[in-house]
Amino acid sequence: MEFHVRPIENRKFVLASHNKGKLDELADLLAPFGYQVQSAAELGLPEPEETGTEFEENAYIKALAAAKATGMPALSDDSGMCADALGGAPGVYTADWATQPDGSRDFGAAMDKVEKLLREKGALTPERRRARFVAVLCLCFPDGEAEFYRGEAEGHLVWPPRGTLGFGYDPVFQPDGHHRTFGEMTAEEKHGWKPGDAHALSHRARAFKKFAQTRLGVS
Ligand code: IMP
Repeated sequence: MEFHVRPIENRKFVLASHNKGKLDELADLLAPFGYQVQSAAELGLPEPEETGTEFEENAYIKALAAAKATGMPALSDDSGMCADALGGAPGVYTADWATQPDGSRDFGAAMDKVEKLLREKGALTPERRRARFVAVLCLCFPDGEAEFYRGEAEGHLVWPPRGTLGFGYDPVFQPDGHHRTFGEMTAEEKHGWKPGDAHALSHRARAFKKFAQTRLGVS
């Protein structure tokens, strides 16, 4: 059977996110490919409510809203951190755990909350503090047709937080095989991937690599 990849007309699409950390990383990953992208934030699009209970559902909600609003294909990222000792929480609610009563986000407070819950569970060793970051990228066309790319990065949660690079929960996540947290890595190190490399490190770069293989002609 012939495999048909629906083309992205004029090499233009929208990045369906308002999150600066994600946008910077996706812009970095996209830089070698010569696509014209604008973010939902730059276009002044509203942020849809994320009502799903799976990363794929929320990724679809965001990409579909941006694609419909602009008439262009849109690429979204729904992501989060899942701690084994917390039954996979915060998961799809990772951003919500940082939300303050005034609507602002405080990731220091969110990391404190995770740490407090881990201690309550007696999760004090790296083995008991296993966690993964998950990212699902969704490319959606204005008529609702969509494709999904999932990436995961395994590691454990450290305390106290280390590093001031990256964003969100990066300072408490130490990926397997590394002695530094994502917060202590440059964006390049955190991606651990450029076109042609066999492996990627971060969840987002792993998902992006699959997107690039299907969509951007990367082997
Ligand atoms: P959402 O996808 O907009 O629901 O938000 C996901 C949340 O997960 C972000 O606000 C971050 O706090 C967190 N997150 C996702 N990816 C990363 C990452 O690469 N580093 C640190 N935190 C992340």
